[in-house]
Amino acid sequence: MDGQARKLIEAFRARYGGQATPRLWRAPGRVNLIGEHTDYNLGFVLPIALELACWVAAAPAEGELLRVYSANTGEERAWPAARAAELEPAGDWGDYVAGVAVELARAGYEIRPVNLLIDSTVPFGGGLSSSAALEVATALALLDGRPIEPLELARLARRAENSFVGMPCGIMDQYVSVFGRQGCALKIDCRSLESELVRLPEEIAIVAVNSMVKHALGATAYRDRVAECRQAVEAIRREHPEVESLRDARPEHLELVDRVARRRARHVISENRRVEEFIAACRAGDLQTMGALFVASHRSLATDYEVSCEELDFLVEAALAIPGVYGSRMTGGGFGGCTVTLVAPGERARFEESISAAYRNRFGIEPRLYRCEASAGAAQVSETGELLKTAISM
Ligand code: GLA
Repeated sequence: MDGQARKLIEAFRARYGGQATPRLWRAPGRVNLIGEHTDYNLGFVLPIALELACWVAAAPAEGELLRVYSANTGEERAWPAARAAELEPAGDWGDYVAGVAVELARAGYEIRPVNLLIDSTVPFGGGLSSSAALEVATALALLDGRPIEPLELARLARRAENSFVGMPCGIMDQYVSVFGRQGCALKIDCRSLESELVRLPEEIAIVAVNSMVKHALGATAYRDRVAECRQAVEAIRREHPEVESLRDARPEHLELVDRVARRRARHVISENRRVEEFIAACRAGDLQTMGALFVASHRSLATDYEVSCEELDFLVEAALAIPGVYGSRMTGGGFGGCTVTLVAPGERARFEESISAAYRNRFGIEPRLYRCEASAGAAQVSETGELLKTAISM
């Protein structure tokens, strides 16, 4: 992290001039191990926070603007800080920053004139939650040390995405970006918003493989799935009014639901169960079962939930044919982005070579690979790259 902190400070000075030492904030991306499309159904998810993270350097500014420069896109956006509560979306990356400013202002935090510089190592559109990382890091930078409850931070960042960006996402990504812990996965109960640390067996390595594709259908399909799940709940509620979300639904309720919505609901019900089974297998060190649950999750997402695509299906099937692989599945919203694979640490290098070659031969695309280590959640970072205060201790 040391190099990244220094790079950020140098870029900040080059952009905004002077010798000012900005404060640094870091919020991680995530890879979800299991529990896909369950968060907005108030079920369970099991993500880990990654070393890949969004970094923000920030220092108070003269004048009246909230100004942000993205080292990733080479673009700048600026808004009048005092009018933060009234900003309108523009349909680009700046919306994640403006949306957070809007939500902070509405929650009663004054937005002060500030210069921000963003540099994210989370790949955009890769399904590793680059947007939540940006939202959470921005919120911390704009708060500049003012206290906020960690759960409120996660909720506020999610509201920015729901209301301002217009994506009806669940809470998983923002939650794990705030609450992530080194060496542990986080089982999140998306209804109670409580979480539990789950230690992963040492005999597995986790590799995310980026298909490098992002099909345009993704955002529309995500909204459709949210609506289809709501339809399923409405159908079940006519006879079982106690069912408030698919979290409460049971397999025998499925016959009350029409065809497409029924398959969506079947995925959610079975996926919630798989999260529990996966955690039990994890605690028992049963790597074979963990792998089998990954594969079952993928198949359910591909056939019942229909959010996979040719590239992701190929990456999963190709991974399963490589020695040392326990299981593989798509991760995140789907329609491109990454798969996540559990592999024996001693076979990891061979897996990486084989999967790259297979994908290259089939699609002519070089995939990007990320070795995933569970890292800490959002924090202020020192000039030398050490985590200072984490959001959960602020
Ligand atoms: C996206 C959303 C999350 C979650 C996943 C699917 O990453 O942002 O809230 O719904 O898709 O599990």
